[in-house]
Amino acid sequence: MGRSSAGPPFHRPTSLEPMSKKVNSFRTPIGTRDLLPPDSARWEAVIDVFGRTADRSGFGLLNTPLFEDIGVFSRVGEGTDVVRKEMYEFSDRSDRRLALRPEGTASVCRAFVQHRPPVPWKVWYQGPFFRYEAPQAGRYRQFHQVGAEVLGTADPDVDVEVIALGWDVLRAVGLKRVLLLVNSMGDPDTRRTYGAALRDHLAANLAGVDEEDREKVELHPLRVLDSKRPGTRAVTAEAPQLAEFLSPAAVAHFDRVQDGLGSLGIPFAIEPRLVRGLDYYTHTTFEFQSSALEAAQNTLCGGGRYDGLVEELGGPATPGIGFGMGIERLLLACDAEETFPTPTTAPRVWVVDVADGRSARDLTHLLRTEGIHADRSFDGRSMRSQMRSADRSGAELALIIGEQELAEQQVAVRRLRDDDAAQVMIPRHDVVDEVRRLLQIDS
Ligand code: HAM
Repeated sequence: MGRSSAGPPFHRPTSLEPMSKKVNSFRTPIGTRDLLPPDSARWEAVIDVFGRTADRSGFGLLNTPLFEDIGVFSRVGEGTDVVRKEMYEFSDRSDRRLALRPEGTASVCRAFVQHRPPVPWKVWYQGPFFRYEAPQAGRYRQFHQVGAEVLGTADPDVDVEVIALGWDVLRAVGLKRVLLLVNSMGDPDTRRTYGAALRDHLAANLAGVDEEDREKVELHPLRVLDSKRPGTRAVTAEAPQLAEFLSPAAVAHFDRVQDGLGSLGIPFAIEPRLVRGLDYYTHTTFEFQSSALEAAQNTLCGGGRYDGLVEELGGPATPGIGFGMGIERLLLACDAEETFPTPTTAPRVWVVDVADGRSARDLTHLLRTEGIHADRSFDGRSMRSQMRSADRSGAELALIIGEQELAEQQVAVRRLRDDDAAQVMIPRHDVVDEVRRLLQIDS
């Protein structure tokens, strides 16, 4: 029997079907969160602090798409869990293979190759990233980073500048319990020769390496170094040290970085196991950790140098360095240290209109266009109800318009935070000047 033109008679699930059968029971997908006011004001403030600090260090904002050709990420991170196991990959309707960005550096390098801007190219970014990880406190499937990258210079003073940017932001939000760990991975040759020596050591002691780490020994021995599993740690403690394999040029680079951090008064510790989870690092790697958070989520910021990445993506040999800072983690650390409170978003003026609502409509707009934070009630509420809303809002002034004020083109002004202050009448056309005067706002 041929198929009817109405489509197959059997049930075929499609991607448009909701995951939940119950209507009205949708929730955020696992590992994702809604961000609601007033918390969102704190979020905006973090991005603002980061953007202003980056701007004054000569970094410009870069926006790249949230999804890219899958090759952008797979080419630079074949050996990493982030790319092999955690990437959200999909085909679009034209069968293009795409991925939601799991991190920012590959996209920045792709943009560099595409646009060939003059170097040094200093950019910052912010936004969501996606990894299919097991969700827990401080670990999400959609998480958010602010980050910065510099492409086109191998000068170790840039490493210092980039690390100092991260440090300045963490200080600006008031964090004190922050540790900076640094390491050097050397040049790509060091990575290779050290990788081979480490592999030999791990292979010779394979029985001691925890089972979950064994599969990395052959292809990605460096990844075994940052394992926290006790058996593996005992084996890696006896392993040859990366520092012994550094070339004189790599040692000189790392010395200059340490010298710079010392000179800027940024405290740090050298952590020889700090190889980080992505494959692309050469020379300097670093992390800012919070001692106010549990070890599983205490890395606020991670980064390093990646001198071969642009070439991997088809561009000219171009050194690069940068970092990504997790906004969720940063705010968890702020909570733990009780710093960087949610900024107040209270209006300064509340317009109470018990005539016909037109004055509230027009005056709030007028005040807003003059740069004054103003709000109002809707739905023709009673005087009592509107005054209650004004009080609750945290506004300092109420502008009150009743039938009489409307007829006389007047506005009654009341200071809401001062019970003794008398209500005064002002001509309506003076409202902006009078509000400015009372709130001591410069025009
Ligand atoms: P990453 O270490 O994978 O590096 O991530 C940087 C930061 O993003 C972490 O330290 C953490 O704060 C946050 N983060 C990562 N995954 C999650 C998650 N699932 N949930 C919450 N926060 C998370 C990179 O992404 C590199 N692109 C950094 C870089 C830039 N290296 C050079 N330039």
